[in-house]
Amino acid sequence: MNYMTGKEVAEAFLKFFEGKGHLIMPSFSLIPENDPTLLMIGAGMAPLKPFFTGKLKPPCPRVTTNQRCVRTGDIENVGRTARHHTAFMMLGNFSFGDYFKAEAIPWAWEFLTEVCGLPREKLWVSIYPNDDEAEQIWLKQPGLNPEHIVRLEDNFWEIGPGPCGPDSEIYIDLGEERGCGKETCSPGCDCDRFLEIWNLVFTQFDRTEDGEYKPLEHKNIDTGCGLERLASVLQQKNSNFETDLLFPIIEYVENISGLKFGDDAKRDISMKVIADHARSMAFMIMDKILPSNEGRGYVLRRILRRAIRHGRMLGIKGAFLEGAIGVVSKI
Ligand code: GLY
Repeated sequence: MNYMTGKEVAEAFLKFFEGKGHLIMPSFSLIPENDPTLLMIGAGMAPLKPFFTGKLKPPCPRVTTNQRCVRTGDIENVGRTARHHTAFMMLGNFSFGDYFKAEAIPWAWEFLTEVCGLPREKLWVSIYPNDDEAEQIWLKQPGLNPEHIVRLEDNFWEIGPGPCGPDSEIYIDLGEERGCGKETCSPGCDCDRFLEIWNLVFTQFDRTEDGEYKPLEHKNIDTGCGLERLASVLQQKNSNFETDLLFPIIEYVENISGLKFGDDAKRDISMKVIADHARSMAFMIMDKILPSNEGRGYVLRRILRRAIRHGRMLGIKGAFLEGAIGVVSKI
């Protein structure tokens, strides 16, 4: 496995896809442009929706990004698992009516196994139950154990109305010791053993507000690879929070609380919540979202209050979030 800092992982990903003819675009703002269906950008593909539907012409039919995202659906899991966040960076490669499965699958395999050096025997993939085409392509990938291909009913990706489609997820088996121990534990299990690191979406439909799935004129590719998750694997850390992308915030909390991360499971959760929420706050305020009583501003206010509450639970008196934001900006 090739050790990389978080920054190096992002650079390697973008460069890899640039080498495959993709245009590297900067992260978009968290505030969706002309998209009333979304409160905030929560996936790499979200700001690119008009390119998938054909409403706008993309600057290049192949694009790659490292998109800042805020998604609060998993907020109660933050700090309790190794991998859930309200704020994260999503790496992605996108095809707007250009390449499809036959390229997206081998490129993902090549990046993970050759650039990142992940052990092939520990990788698993899931496919949509009737996606024999994806299975055939996966079967050709060097070193992938055919028994590590599983069919999962929920392998269909959508984020509100808009472009969507069946998907294929790539997991790494982090070992029994990281799992729930249940006999049924396998890719898709809620525990931390099989870590989903990348989702390849075969975007073929446009879901209307009424829930109708209209076939898109062109087939597209949308992928989402969690930077923090991939960094945790390459840095051989037990959680995303211990990577160089988040741990400096925990060290800051250690300093001001006088407590040590790893000494007490409950306090660790609070430290992780503060680290995650500090990033959310920094990302949102950077995009000119301010605390308020409604909409995006209310999301920020709720996150801010949660972070303060966890600080109080650690015995921190007085204001401490400004310093945490300073650490985020250094990272
Ligand atoms: N759009 C793919 C993902 O977010 O997983």
